[in-house]
Amino acid sequence: MQFNSRRCILRRLATFCGSPQPTMSEDKPKSRPRGSTQADPDVERDQQPATLDECRRCALWRNATQAVAGEGPKHAAIMLIGEQPGDAEDLQGRPFVGPAGALLDKALEEAGLERKKVYVTNAVKHFKWTPRGKRRMHKTPGQREIEACGYWLEQELRSTAALVIVALGATALKAVLDDPHARLQDTLGQTIEHGERTVVATYHPSFALRALDASTRQRAYDAIVSALQDADKLSRKHKRSKLMP
Ligand code: URA
Repeated sequence: MQFNSRRCILRRLATFCGSPQPTMSEDKPKSRPRGSTQADPDVERDQQPATLDECRRCALWRNATQAVAGEGPKHAAIMLIGEQPGDAEDLQGRPFVGPAGALLDKALEEAGLERKKVYVTNAVKHFKWTPRGKRRMHKTPGQREIEACGYWLEQELRSTAALVIVALGATALKAVLDDPHARLQDTLGQTIEHGERTVVATYHPSFALRALDASTRQRAYDAIVSALQDADKLSRKHKRSKLMP
């Protein structure tokens, strides 16, 4: 996956350097009369883009600095899937490099896994946000955006060796199971056999950072560590069963 970061940086600079900025109403998809079949001119739902930078399968590209591709070795045994890039990831063009990423790195270390040995990606590749003053506030991606971005996740699943997937939060779970009704609460701490892969569902690191009380944050963090340990054990089991059919 590639993207043209230069163009993205120029777009971003334009946003912050006083070039004409989209108004709030321009930011939002224009409302259409009920039943209207008129398509959003910036979106091509059936597009089959060759690169992430060209992706117009949903409208999120419009307000993002750049698309954030997954990263890690193609031969990784474990894939971690988050929700979508946050503010820091959108600016840096890499997954999990902000506060949630710092917590994830700590959990990986505690679970005895090296980040450079796992493949890290997101269900949705563009940052979905809404302005609040000067801040860009995260907005949860909708089902249509998850489905549009499934195009990329499928390619990542096909092109990496990972047979163990850690779904970090409900959006990742819906995306990897391709099931809009999948609920994190129903599968937390369980392993789900999905085709040839095993999915381990756990909390999103942001929940472990932002839950209101300290004991919930600690429980969520511990659950993430334990899911990563389970993933490690499962990946060893997959490896053994490949060696001894
Ligand atoms: N949250 C995510 O889900 N992914 C990131 O890359 C960063 C924050």
